[in-house]
Amino acid sequence: QTQTVAVIVGSLRKDSASRKIAKAVEALSPPGVAFRFIEIGALPHFDQDLEAAPPQAWTDFREQVKATDAVLFVTPEYNRSVPGVLKNAIDVGSRPYGQSVFNGKPAAVISTSAGALGGFGANHHLRQSLAFLNMPTLNQPEAYVGNSLALFDEHGELVNESTAEFLRAFATTFAAWIAQHAPARDQRQA
Ligand code: FNR
Repeated sequence: QTQTVAVIVGSLRKDSASRKIAKAVEALSPPGVAFRFIEIGALPHFDQDLEAAPPQAWTDFREQVKATDAVLFVTPEYNRSVPGVLKNAIDVGSRPYGQSVFNGKPAAVISTSAGALGGFGANHHLRQSLAFLNMPTLNQPEAYVGNSLALFDEHGELVNESTAEFLRAFATTFAAWIAQHAPARDQRQA
């Protein structure tokens, strides 16, 4: 049975290295894993006053995440933390109270950085939220992708061999993690 993975990218820009890395992981994933890229850029800011009559974009986002078996977060680090747009998406998906679409879903985190540190701060700030959201999150291998802008050619193809090798192993381990932790499909849809 195919495992579906919601992919949430923390950068909105067209040429995002984080998005390219997410695409590379998709290409390097074992058979039986299907990625669904879920866009977060048009989600209105979370506002509790809107909860009674939620914006359509919120409802669509929640439905899209709910329909998947797992979530892969691929995000740059902004000011040593998670980009606001990603935190907003997490907040939107976590509500209404008691109906979080993230609850129990297995997850993995890849942080990226144009610099050398690989987005360590963003990776662990994100994990703080995922722990609270009750998402069993892959611990190893940790994925801090540094020097992200140098990994791709002009067509956006990953040309760094050791990164490709690492991401292939990461994707394989994540697929096994999903199989181990995904709630039963009928349970999820109940
Ligand atoms: C950055 N960048 C950055 N890099 C980093 O390693 N640590 C940081 O704290 C920050 N902070 C930061 C804040 C803001 C507002 C921007 C726009 C950028 C640089 C960042 O790594 C670089 O722009 C990446 O290319 C962003 O990822 P995408 O968009 O290529 O996926």
